[in-house]
Amino acid sequence: MHKKISDKIYWVGKTDWELKKFHGDEFTTRKGSSYNSYLIRDKKTVLIDTVWLPYDREFVNNLKKEIDLKKIDYIIIQHGEVDHSGALIELMEEIPNTPIYCTNNAVKSLKGQYHKEWNFVTVKTGDKLNIGENTLTFIEAPMLHWPDTMFTYMDKEEILFSNDGFGQHLASEFLYADEVDEADLFNQALTYYANILAPFGMMVKMKINEILNMNLPIKMICPSHGLIWRKNPMQIVEKYLEWANNYKENQVTIIYDTMWNSTRLMAEKIAEGIVNADKNVQVKIMNTAKDDKTEVLTEVFKSKIIIVGSPTVNNGYLHSIAGILEMIKGMKLKEKKAVAFGSYGWSGEAVKLITEELKKAGFEIINDGLKMLWKPDEEMSQECVKFGEKVK
Ligand code: FEO
Repeated sequence: MHKKISDKIYWVGKTDWELKKFHGDEFTTRKGSSYNSYLIRDKKTVLIDTVWLPYDREFVNNLKKEIDLKKIDYIIIQHGEVDHSGALIELMEEIPNTPIYCTNNAVKSLKGQYHKEWNFVTVKTGDKLNIGENTLTFIEAPMLHWPDTMFTYMDKEEILFSNDGFGQHLASEFLYADEVDEADLFNQALTYYANILAPFGMMVKMKINEILNMNLPIKMICPSHGLIWRKNPMQIVEKYLEWANNYKENQVTIIYDTMWNSTRLMAEKIAEGIVNADKNVQVKIMNTAKDDKTEVLTEVFKSKIIIVGSPTVNNGYLHSIAGILEMIKGMKLKEKKAVAFGSYGWSGEAVKLITEELKKAGFEIINDGLKMLWKPDEEMSQECVKFGEKVK
């Protein structure tokens, strides 16, 4: 059902409490999410974005309770990904000729997914659409996070509709960010940024600066996932600028996998050494076979140094480490350091191979790493502690 934002704007999206995995199995969404769709009722009626495909019929049925669908003058699709465009097939069967305003790249992504020749109207940055008292201005935001993405600014209401930007996977009965637990909110916003937008930090900075230079008064930021930024909406913009600026906290994250606990013992002793050398540093230890990968990537994003460990297995390293290294590489992180470690029984290639992957992922390599034959005894454990003390 709708939730009123102003006399002219209604939230008509779907809160998905059940969503626990997003992007296939790539992103864990423990707190659920929402697909925010907005209905604007000015002199013209406008629908901004829809919802994820499984909720298409529910969405259209609910929308029919709000409005005669034929009264929708314009549909705006800010991004073609199925979590926002998924109800289009169902909707367009009812109103097949309604114009869909989107970027040229969105025409490609929508046609590529739905294979329909809808009435597309392509827009570019600065294009305007007068809808009565308000005028909508479109702002292309390519690679935030698809080439097709755009934002929409509504002038009299002073609202920026930002699609995935500034969103969070956080289901709530509330509508506004200032109504929910603040720690939860920012944790989810950071998790979202780290797992979806981190590779595009440079573009995030450029786009935010471009919007700031437009001097648009912004009373609210309405993303397409999670809560709306109403109270001091620029706080999330400032956070984004911070995160986009090669973000790091005074944190070291040790990620490892282990077969018979030798590499785990090394991880724990290395952590001891790190804290010996700096009592203020946060150290997190995560087992990639057991910890959630979305959380691992978020901790990596926050870290100044990561330490990656695996035993040598069949001249390589364990598959959970291979998987997480591939995901870390995709984040395109900069100005972070890394080093590898691991136990072995005979050939012992893992440390060297992990180091090579970390280098390819853009990390500054601290040293050649630490490899240990079989299980660390007391003396070897102390060597791990000393290794940790020198990781800086
Ligand atoms: Fe929320 Fe990129 O879709």
